[in-house]
Amino acid sequence: MRVTALGHAGLKVETARGTFLVDPWFSPEGAFQGSWFQYPDNSHLLTPSLLHPSAILISHEHLDHVDPWFLAQVPASVPVIVPRYPSPVLRRKIESAGPSPIVEASPWERVEIAEGATVFFVSEESPMNHDSAMVIQYDGRCLLNLNDARLSPVQFRGIKQKAGGRIDLFAFQGAGASWYPMSYRYPEDRKRELSHRKRLAKLAYVASSIKLLDPVAALPFAGPPCFLDPELFCHNEQMEDGIFPDQLQVAGWLADRSIENTVVLLPGDGWDMEARAKDGDPTWADFSLADRWPYLEAYAERRRPQVDAVLARYPEPKDSLWEAFRDYFDRLLAMSPYFNRMIGMRVGFDVTGPGGGRWSVDFRPGSEGVVQGNGECGYRYRFESRWLPPILRGEVPWEDFFLSIRFEAERHPDLYNDHLLGLLKFAEKEALDAVESFETSMSFEERITVHAEGRSYSVARYCPHAGNDLQDTGEVLPGRVLRCLAHHYEFSLDTGRCLNGTGLSLDVEPAAAPSPSRS
Ligand code: FES
Repeated sequence: MRVTALGHAGLKVETARGTFLVDPWFSPEGAFQGSWFQYPDNSHLLTPSLLHPSAILISHEHLDHVDPWFLAQVPASVPVIVPRYPSPVLRRKIESAGPSPIVEASPWERVEIAEGATVFFVSEESPMNHDSAMVIQYDGRCLLNLNDARLSPVQFRGIKQKAGGRIDLFAFQGAGASWYPMSYRYPEDRKRELSHRKRLAKLAYVASSIKLLDPVAALPFAGPPCFLDPELFCHNEQMEDGIFPDQLQVAGWLADRSIENTVVLLPGDGWDMEARAKDGDPTWADFSLADRWPYLEAYAERRRPQVDAVLARYPEPKDSLWEAFRDYFDRLLAMSPYFNRMIGMRVGFDVTGPGGGRWSVDFRPGSEGVVQGNGECGYRYRFESRWLPPILRGEVPWEDFFLSIRFEAERHPDLYNDHLLGLLKFAEKEALDAVESFETSMSFEERITVHAEGRSYSVARYCPHAGNDLQDTGEVLPGRVLRCLAHHYEFSLDTGRCLNGTGLSLDVEPAAAPSPSRS
């Protein structure tokens, strides 16, 4: 089996029985309203022969993974194979490109994609996160493509066992895919510190995954993106020491921690799993990831017409958006009393420019409502009115808009509200019901003992966020804090209170017996 990097999270997987494209992203307009672009530029790979694969495999619904522009170039007979999610968002994005046959696979279900070649997907445990790893096997070789997913140690062990005990290539995301903290109103030095912490948290997760899986080779990919709109160009700074390290930086960080088996592939570079050898695309002979600024400036100049074309598709509204905004959120408020309760706050919107206004949505039970004015809000979003109409029409999901980083946010207190983002990103009863059913059926009866600063605590074994086993993913921090490495929620061991998120608390009490334990 041979793997060629297609840029970002894109891979071409070649076997004797077929060629498969994984998360191909080539749109010349990038993704997320002309915000994200492939880094470095992968357009030289867009040749006619690339457009005739045996199948396309897509991991999840983010537009840097599902690219309707690319799918529209491929013959309608090419099947698109995806994980089954409790929301039609991914399916709709694929369908917007044309009538390809879509095969939805349930988690862990092995699907034959060519004679002797199979794939199975493993999704994050909570349906709040639509991210999946995919495992492609052929002729005794195994590619585990984690992309943006955060799987638990239990899932990793299950994958390795199902794959026959050996991972030949482990492809993982080394850079985050987020708007935090760039879009938040923090003082610059605080923002830098948060970016750095987020970078390290991601790298720590990656290192622990590699140690657990012990693959033959590990491939950092699926980022970083770059930002070519002059208004967003400053976010390329995140590559320096923020949430978007490049592949060489990731490999270097891992090497410093004795993980030496990484391979860095630029778009067009190949990796032969049998020979364990890389062959380089000559395009990059004089290119250096470290010397990014001249490259990015020239790239931004080349993409300026595409960025301008995207902006022109979002004209300023002529009429007030208030009624459409109110009707949209009235509909959302009626969708899930569970989500309203979990959000439990008033959320403000400053929609600037023609047709905009200051409005708020109160999710607190008993005071649900959409009103003009936005004082005393727990969260506040501020953005230009030109972006709102396609969101209200359901054409642009909120999460895609947030990933564009074309907005500003603040929150008081400074806590992440997972259910607010969940409601906005799904805006679909079926998906919200799946989350409610998952969260309300989690069991916290099993307990472990955690030691911190001379004290012992009896703690619910499974994390209240998405049920990861804290025996595997719990990390004790100074100040008697337990951090779950899955999504980095932190809990006070003295009170159980979540220190960086709303609506969560850890069941904790003073312990008598210390076994089994974390310390
Ligand atoms: S499972 Fe998400 S933070 Fe623990």
